[in-house]
Amino acid sequence: MSGTESVVVDHATKNFTLRYHRTFKQMTVAAVRRENISDTFRAVDDVSFTIEQGESVALMGLNGSGKSTLLKLINGVMRPESGSVLTRGRIAGLIATGAGFHPQLTGRENVFLNAAVMGMSEAETRRKFDDIAEFAELGKFLDSPVGHYSSGMSARLGFSVAIHVDSDIFLADEVLAVGDKPFKEKCIERMQEIRKSGRTLIYVSHAPGTVRKMCDRVIVLEKGRVGFDGGTIAGIRYVKYEDERLDEEQIEDDEIGADI
Ligand SMILES: Nc1ncnc2c1ncn2[C@@H]1O[C@H](COP(=O)(O)OP(=O)(O)OP(=O)(O)O)[C@@H](O)[C@H]1O
Ligand SMILES: [Mg+2]
Repeated sequence: MSGTESVVVDHATKNFTLRYHRTFKQMTVAAVRRENISDTFRAVDDVSFTIEQGESVALMGLNGSGKSTLLKLINGVMRPESGSVLTRGRIAGLIATGAGFHPQLTGRENVFLNAAVMGMSEAETRRKFDDIAEFAELGKFLDSPVGHYSSGMSARLGFSVAIHVDSDIFLADEVLAVGDKPFKEKCIERMQEIRKSGRTLIYVSHAPGTVRKMCDRVIVLEKGRVGFDGGTIAGIRYVKYEDERLDEEQIEDDEIGADI
């Protein structure tokens, strides 16, 4: 990795095993009949790209195209079968709503647990706790078990902890999909701050409007492969959102023309 590189993904491939038969009896019957009882599925297929420090990149593509899996490879919770994924510095963010939370512990307890997992000391968490709680806006639910939270509530708490970690790379997946409008706006504002502070941002999204506002590059995954890697407007065009959706986001023709 050279001095300014933040994330280097080099021919990374990640396979999953799909099992067709669930019970022992079904598997035995399948084995006798010489049917396949499992199959491997390539979720990330020979993906390569380099992200420079301070870049803000949107990861787009259809459901199941491998975006979350790729984020997990970058975050380090999964390893590629072949190829490599190198990152520089501390990584924070929300890769799945409720990831890393313990359902039986309260929101308050989970803040400490989650912060520790992300590498924050107890003293640092204690210092930032009021800010974290304020941003999450959970009120009295902060002292109820996270298992009873709605998905939006867990996303709020997870996102709030993540933005309070001093990280070099910030990953965001799903959070904006489950957050309500006021929370979404707050998240976008925070992510803009992260971007302006020169940290690297990787943001998974299906929303052309926010991608355009927040990112300077789009990578589109198609069945686990990189289908497009380039400018924001061209990237949004590439994913071929229906015209009415583009209208809704008010992307003006002039603006699109200017970027291509
Ligand atoms: N742990 C797993 N075991 C088996 N298959 C998995 C696993 N995780 C993901 N997959 C499969 O890998 C493919 C890519 O999934 P992934 O979650 O990365 O997609 P995505 O692009 O994030 O989709 P979405 O837009 O719906 O969030 C899917 O077909 C999914 O079923
Ligand atoms: Mg996903």
